[in-house]
Amino acid sequence: GLPPEVRIYEVGPRDGLQNEKATVPVEVKAEFVHRLRAAGLGTVEATSFVHPKWVPQLADAEQLMPLLGDLPPGLRLPVLVPNSRGLERALAHGCRDVAVFASATESFAKANLNRTLQESLAMFEPVVSRAKAEGQWVRGYVSMCFGDPWEGAVPPAQVVRVCRALLEMGCDELSLGDTIGVATPGHVSALLAGLDGAGVPVDRIAVHFHDTYGQALSNTLTALRHGVTTVDASAGGLGGCPYAKSATGNLATEDLVWMLQGLGITTGVDLTRLAAVSGWMADRLGRPSPSRTVRALTGA
Ligand code: HMG
Ligand code: MG
Repeated sequence: GLPPEVRIYEVGPRDGLQNEKATVPVEVKAEFVHRLRAAGLGTVEATSFVHPKWVPQLADAEQLMPLLGDLPPGLRLPVLVPNSRGLERALAHGCRDVAVFASATESFAKANLNRTLQESLAMFEPVVSRAKAEGQWVRGYVSMCFGDPWEGAVPPAQVVRVCRALLEMGCDELSLGDTIGVATPGHVSALLAGLDGAGVPVDRIAVHFHDTYGQALSNTLTALRHGVTTVDASAGGLGGCPYAKSATGNLATEDLVWMLQGLGITTGVDLTRLAAVSGWMADRLGRPSPSRTVRALTGA
């Protein structure tokens, strides 16, 4: 069966904008977050406290946070933190929700974090325990869960190991990233079955699909049938990942909401309003949204 309700974890301001060529002024980023909230998104990943040289598009995290205003209870504005330095910066800005980001493969750990997989897990361990001690909600991303541009197909057992390590550290939620968008429904089923077999509770799992090969919605539906109820998406289909060459096209939030609405699944999102937000952002970026739902709804 399918769940009656799905929680959408919006990543546009972070995963979207980090990979756009155009630099967006910090006031526009703040306005983007406000408009996404107003369209009904309860979780909006706002930015990253990473090294500014690694992700120049998000170098204004310190300027952005104060512009986002007070957080009403129930609203989440998570931020990415790769290490203790990043966590300190996030705590200094009143963040309540943080995310570390691991990789299922050695190659991407090296490219994205300048560490071996084991070294990167060792880097996250004190970050997660300190964050939990500070009362933070902590997400653990796992990138390249299905395929890797250097290593090819990724065996589920390899992903399961990293997921278990993150849960043992104390992460509240795992997000399974198909960073280069190569997953297909059978592979999604195999990974979710592997996680289930390893005792990873499905209510701790989120899915993060990219639409590179047009499979993001099929993969999402497969995950919902396995009991997953948290789905990552990016308004207007913005962005990818700057350290994975072939990573284009996060699943567009509008495409996701269109499917969920058709299935009678509640999301709390006002689709017309959201598509208008993405149309507005597309104008700021000077390029049309790649989302077919946005184009259909806005006539762009
Ligand atoms: P490193 O060069 O190994 O850093 O980078 P280091 O630990 O050797 O430190 C070097 C210098 O950087 C030091 O300064 C540190 O203080 C400073 P110095 O003493 O030389 O003056 N530094 C920092 N400054 C500000 N904030 C920090 C920070 N950390 C160190 N947090 C590092 C290691 C992890 C920092 C670097 O590799 C990095 O920032 N990587 C982030 C890359 C990134 O954000 N990638 C995109 C994430 S998206 C993703 O992973 C996929 C996902 O979206 C899911 C999907 O789409 O599938 C999640
Ligand atoms: Mg992504």
